[in-house]
Amino acid sequence: MSKQLFEKFDGGELTDDMLVEASQLFNENYGVWGKDAAKSGAFAKPGSRVRLSKDRLRAQCLPQGAACSYARVTIDDRLAGNVFACRWTYNDRIVCWVTQLVVHHDFRERGIAVSLLNQIRQDDDEVYGLMSSHPAACLAAAKAFGNGIGTVRLDFIRKHAAAVMKASPVGYVKDADLRGSLFDTKETNGVVSSVYTNFFVDHTEPLEALAWVREGLDWPLGELLDGHEFLLLLEVRRRDRSRSRSTSRPQTGS
Ligand SMILES: CC(C)(COP(=O)(O)OP(=O)(O)OC[C@H]1O[C@@H](n2cnc3c(N)ncnc32)[C@H](O)[C@@H]1OP(=O)(O)O)[C@@H](O)C(=O)NCCC(=O)NCCS
Repeated sequence: MSKQLFEKFDGGELTDDMLVEASQLFNENYGVWGKDAAKSGAFAKPGSRVRLSKDRLRAQCLPQGAACSYARVTIDDRLAGNVFACRWTYNDRIVCWVTQLVVHHDFRERGIAVSLLNQIRQDDDEVYGLMSSHPAACLAAAKAFGNGIGTVRLDFIRKHAAAVMKASPVGYVKDADLRGSLFDTKETNGVVSSVYTNFFVDHTEPLEALAWVREGLDWPLGELLDGHEFLLLLEVRRRDRSRSRSTSRPQTGS
């Protein structure tokens, strides 16, 4: 029998030791640089692991002054997966954005990403967002925060993505370049909802996952190009928002 423990923390509770562990999980399990890695920077070598130091992780996922959350799962006292998220407001609505989601290779495809995202969600969240090259991350978010990828509303993404992201305290979200036919109707490369992040990570694994996913369902976000990531934005629909809204609201990003 194994011991599985999920824990959730506010951003301010994260110690350097916790970030070192998270950085190690990322460095060993996130992915490798692709053939055009040099476009991301001289530090990126094709075939070598994408790495993130503790300090860069803090800067990227726990920006100063932002309301951030962290959830992790340990299996037999070993870090098996974690998720970082940041919250801000847009049009007086609480946005919860997943800034990093990683599950250890040994523990994938058993619902851990969905469970981690369930730890992060709060009753007063009204919009969820994620940028990821991995279709499984989008599937997991659509399941944890909504009713599955089949019910994603593309018109909501088209109308609100730019403004939601501009209000973000997370630099790479704020500066992301929207791509796809949702945002430019002249686009003919099959990209529907993506961002160009200049992040030339190897897409072999995400593309294999995409091919597999497409055999079973209608994938709404289109093609995945090098240097791009899928963009997913989900609206929480409630009959009466005021009833479920708590009094504590995150610092405004807008
Ligand atoms: C993306 C990632 C977090 C998914 O973690 P996971 O724990 O394996 O995901 P889950 O088991 O919760 O599965 C979520 C959904 O994706 C599907 N899925 C998971 N891995 C898949 C794969 N390799 N191919 C196809 N579908 C896959 C699952 O079947 C499930 O779909 P369902 O709910 O419709 O059944 C993990 O693969 C990972 O860490 N990848 C590297 C880092 C990364 O790309 N992170 C995203 C950046 S934000």
